[in-house]
Amino acid sequence: MFDADFFKAEIPNYLSGKRLSHTFAVTEECERLADIFGVEGIDRERLLCAALLHDITKEKKGREQIDLLRKLNAEYDSDDLNSPKILHAITGAAFIRRQWPDRTDDEMALLIRSHTTGRPGMGLCEKLLYLADYIEPTRDWESCVTLRRFFKKEPAAVKNDPQKLLKHLDRTLVLSFDLTIAELIESGSVISMKAVAARNQLLISLDA
Ligand SMILES: [Fe+2]
Ligand SMILES: [Fe+2]
Repeated sequence: MFDADFFKAEIPNYLSGKRLSHTFAVTEECERLADIFGVEGIDRERLLCAALLHDITKEKKGREQIDLLRKLNAEYDSDDLNSPKILHAITGAAFIRRQWPDRTDDEMALLIRSHTTGRPGMGLCEKLLYLADYIEPTRDWESCVTLRRFFKKEPAAVKNDPQKLLKHLDRTLVLSFDLTIAELIESGSVISMKAVAARNQLLISLDA
């Protein structure tokens, strides 16, 4: 049902340059993560399509992004309007359902919607796309390098223990939220409450 080759050919009509290379790098990172976490079949295909489409509306800026949000009738919280960088996840999720209703589904849209802020109760593939977006090899910000190192030092050691592997994934996500929140505080930016709620829920579940 989900055809990654179709979207691989489509996406250069929407993105170019660094954003296009980033998109392909996220897709390759998702393939590696799917191998590590044993994601197969339709879930894997959906994940790879979501990776190809995750930044599809990112070239729209400021006012254009808000106009698209309204044009697509996308659901959003008033809180979302205070963090312009996360809006492309909301418009992207709505756009793919409008543009390719038979080649996408609501679960794929949810993966895209969660890729910037996360949300409490994320599923495995949501976590994998969120992480791939953060650690793909072309990302060279300090926080990305820190997170990539933290994540990569562990899977080989715990690869035969799925429970430990999933806990390591959650710990990696908690660190990603800590790094992002610290950066937002440093730059005096608004922090999405979804990211705070996602971090808290993961911390509590790791402690349980
Ligand atoms: Fe994005
Ligand atoms: Fe991205």
